[in-house]
Amino acid sequence: MKLSDEHFEKALRLIPWGTQTNAKRPIPFFNETMPKFIERGKGCRLWDMEGKEYIDFRLSLGPVTLGYCYDEVDDAVREQMKKGVLFSMASPRELELAELVTATVPNADMCRFMKTGEDANLCNVRIARAHTGRDMILMSGYHGYPDWFATDDSPNNGVPEVIKDYVKVIPWGNCEEADRLVRTYGDRIACIISTAYDFNEDTSGSFIRHLRALTREHGILLVMDEVLTGFRLAPGGAQELFGVDADLGSYAKALANGYPLSTFVGKRKYMETLDRFRLTTTYAGETLSIAAAIATLTIMKREDVHGHMRAMGTLLMGHFNDMAKEIGIEGTAMGLPVGSWLKFTTPDEEFNQRLSYLWARELYREGIFANTRWFISYSHKAADIHEAAAKARTALKRALECEPRERATAIPFYW
Ligand SMILES: Cc1ncc(COP(=O)(O)O)c(C=O)c1O
Repeated sequence: MKLSDEHFEKALRLIPWGTQTNAKRPIPFFNETMPKFIERGKGCRLWDMEGKEYIDFRLSLGPVTLGYCYDEVDDAVREQMKKGVLFSMASPRELELAELVTATVPNADMCRFMKTGEDANLCNVRIARAHTGRDMILMSGYHGYPDWFATDDSPNNGVPEVIKDYVKVIPWGNCEEADRLVRTYGDRIACIISTAYDFNEDTSGSFIRHLRALTREHGILLVMDEVLTGFRLAPGGAQELFGVDADLGSYAKALANGYPLSTFVGKRKYMETLDRFRLTTTYAGETLSIAAAIATLTIMKREDVHGHMRAMGTLLMGHFNDMAKEIGIEGTAMGLPVGSWLKFTTPDEEFNQRLSYLWARELYREGIFANTRWFISYSHKAADIHEAAAKARTALKRALECEPRERATAIPFYW
């Protein structure tokens, strides 16, 4: 039995799902190839408990923009550690970071820091409700586990039924349903909270633009959940890329290169609502993550981090297209280069899905860590992309050989 299998069995007895983040649980379908634990990372590479190396395109579910153990960021954290982690009053570094965030994010007259993406979303929803005096929200996309955002999950998930009266879901990209819900609930709605881009085929930004026009017309606030897109699609996130200005925005993952920090930002007249009520947490001003974010945003300002990520993503997409052509499988590289994927496009949709799972399984075997979307970091260099593409080709050929034997295999459940 492998060391990591033994470790996982023990973990399951003490930790529900054996992990703190549902999306990091091992998937039984990938059992023989997917690592159950990661012990360390450097640049764009990870190593599992058995010492096997992977080129990583998952990047901790998005936060790692510069690369693992990025020296300049970690040095800034080490320097800050000598002074202290958390104080009895605000640290002066909070202003330093607020200056960088408000200079980088469009619409950010003011900002405050929290720890997680859902913290930032919850704060923005509270501000929107307090500012408008309305109770309902419409939401589109994933915004975190709290009650407000979990009304659509499995039944008996601990969310009071009554909350469902206050939250309605717009299926992402469905403008007609957004219009219908606004027509139905109109002046009960405080805000629409939505992701701007869902890492799918539609890279136009047309949905978020539609929501912007709709909310303006009806006096509803637009909260852009940029937890995954912020500081990743462009320095100013989706607001900058799509030219949409939100009333309030939530940012987290790429802000501090993996250190736990989020920020909610917005126009002054909304952010000043905070003078009237309590929205606070002890660890929000924790200085190590703030030092990491200052270093991360400083590097993004000084160097063309996003240009590099776009170039590497474009290179990878070219490899995907060449590989599909050469192997003779219908498929096209889709999405924005910072998080693209090879979509199989044969007329048999079930085959396409099964092949993408078989390919993922074989990718782990080859030492490529990729989970549907291939995120790019500043540490991915052309040599890494070429190496990954060669391994991806071997993995795809093997997946195609396996496919006829594995027709009856159930498609795995991701969450
Ligand atoms: C768009 C979006 N919003 C919110 C969240 C929740 O963020 P966190 O897990 O940091 O609370 C996520 C996490 O995946 C996300 O992708």
